[in-house]
Amino acid sequence: MSHTTVIPASTYAGYPAIMTPHQLDTMRARAQRDPDGFWLEQARRVYWHRKPTQAFTGSFEGDVSIRWFEDGQLNVSVCCIDRYLTDRGDQVALISHREGRQASEKITYSMLHERVCRLANALTHLGVEKGQRVAICLPMVSEAVVAMLACARIGAVHVVLFGGFSAEGIAERLVDSGTVAVITANVARRGAKLVPFKETIDEALRKAGSASSVHSVLVVSTSDDPVLMLPGRDYNYHDFVDEFEADFVPVLMNAEDPLFLLYTSGSTGKPKAIVHACGGYIVWAAYTMGMVYTHQPGDVLWCTADVAWITGHTSVVYGPLANGGTTMISDSLPTHPYPGRWWDLVDQYKVTMLFTAPTAVRTMMAEGDEVVKKRDLRSLRLLGVAGEPISPDAWQWYHDVVGNKRCPVVDTWWQTETAGIVLGPMPGVQALKPGSATMPLPGVEMTLIDQQGGAVTGPGEGALCISRSWPGQARTIWGDHERFRQTYFTMAPGRYFTGDGAKRDSDGYYWITGRMDDVINIAGHRLGTAEVEEVLAEDHRIVESAAVGVPHPVKGQGLVVFVIPRKDAAGEVTEQALSRLIASQLGRYAAPEAVYLVPDLPRTRSGKIVRRLLRKIAEGQIENFGDLSALNDMAIVKMLCDRVWGQM
Ligand code: WTA
Repeated sequence: MSHTTVIPASTYAGYPAIMTPHQLDTMRARAQRDPDGFWLEQARRVYWHRKPTQAFTGSFEGDVSIRWFEDGQLNVSVCCIDRYLTDRGDQVALISHREGRQASEKITYSMLHERVCRLANALTHLGVEKGQRVAICLPMVSEAVVAMLACARIGAVHVVLFGGFSAEGIAERLVDSGTVAVITANVARRGAKLVPFKETIDEALRKAGSASSVHSVLVVSTSDDPVLMLPGRDYNYHDFVDEFEADFVPVLMNAEDPLFLLYTSGSTGKPKAIVHACGGYIVWAAYTMGMVYTHQPGDVLWCTADVAWITGHTSVVYGPLANGGTTMISDSLPTHPYPGRWWDLVDQYKVTMLFTAPTAVRTMMAEGDEVVKKRDLRSLRLLGVAGEPISPDAWQWYHDVVGNKRCPVVDTWWQTETAGIVLGPMPGVQALKPGSATMPLPGVEMTLIDQQGGAVTGPGEGALCISRSWPGQARTIWGDHERFRQTYFTMAPGRYFTGDGAKRDSDGYYWITGRMDDVINIAGHRLGTAEVEEVLAEDHRIVESAAVGVPHPVKGQGLVVFVIPRKDAAGEVTEQALSRLIASQLGRYAAPEAVYLVPDLPRTRSGKIVRRLLRKIAEGQIENFGDLSALNDMAIVKMLCDRVWGQM
């Protein structure tokens, strides 16, 4: 950290910064002095039917309860649409670009209102009620945005499911969430690949059987590809929805009513649905995106994240719309059908703010500078990343080559559980340090906890915790509040533990060192190693397995799995077949880099698998293993090295 590059805010003198450094300091101090007053003030960023008079009314102690703006009432779709109808009804709210189609869709705030209302009426007609769950499993098409907002309008809780999940994964989530209706597509094209959305939903519903409560499935036709439709359950989205009235009185919601569930991975095998509530979430989306992505009239924000992730929810849909901006979605890939595809789209749509994952930056960087340099990227004014660590090198490339040293790069750190940006710079206001997600936004009280459980003061390293609630904080894990309490509030009692480790330098900048639990991050997708081990545990030919993350040049991390087959099944299981099994059960993103069949795993004397050692072996760091005195059998180390790296 001593040789860190520092890029002063004055580098971007022409940048329309929304405040001065002094104003930012004042805001921070104000938030610290009077958090409740500060957050009630920030709550005014959104439209309330009944304004809240209380800010935080929960507690990190005891059973843990997270409650914000409890006496406020609102409807999130009104915050994102109706409130802008009078003064910017004709402004484009959503640009939807689809590869292979000539014309893009440009949907104004008025059009969005109509579409959301029609679907709200259609869902109500199908019997969907306030508080019930609706799953949305769609590619990046405009209907995905409409569907989320229509759920919000009728008070239904949306559960957006990633199209890359397997049928098993979807079945498990449909049952766990008690979903009553699904909105999906016939198929989607991802580059040259055809993704069978409807077929996967059908299979998931078959697998879920009577455990599922799904009574209706709406199917968006993204192409002419035919799919089977079950009469009485399945409806063609547009044939059905477009007949309904284009007006719908929004359902009044209490601030603490849930807005959505979003599944993410943790350190056990069972995926967990994080619950976010209407009032706190929309205030947080408006605040964080307003502070970091400062929409001005004419701005086009393109966040390339899939709507199925928290970045998609907050940076594609709710954040930009709550701020009255123009957001863009696209099903394109950065390098398909040719290198530089995204740069052409930036120029074509005059994108002013581009927000993507470090994986995409690394992918595009690998194609060389010329691909970028021969394109016109003058529309850009702000570049951003989120979701995984970005190395100073990749950061600098994004900044120098893509941004031509003109555009600030905002590295933002957040989580499904935080709902929006927590660490991130205010562009043009704060100095940037490549590789650091800078500092917490005003109002966020970040603390590093050392190994003795004490708070680190000044520069140092520790477990990244947040000591005071913020409006966008996850409320609970759906159906399992005890798991919520244990996961996030026991490592450092009285504080929220993020699961990440971090360093803080002498300027107060944070440097994320990675997850401290058994969660890995493959190209920005969170995966619990326990999920992988659970899939393998179900195969009776396997005794035990251990999955670890290893550094990967493009994806950030890759998955490596060590598997002990049963002796009598040794000839039957192959590494390729296990690799396929994992990808088919968990989703394509979980496909391992390598699977190794091994006779045993390194263990401590009490039988605990030593994952640290497995990671080192998988990475090839086999010169220095550190202290191995806890191992019960040293011979296993050489055997594993030989297996992975050949006879030495
Ligand atoms: C990691 C994604 C380094 C981190 C928004 C976190 C990051 C997990 C960054 C959450 C960043 C996110 N630098 N690491 N800027 N942003 N992470 O829930 O480990 O999909 O805990 O939310 O991604 O992943 P999630």
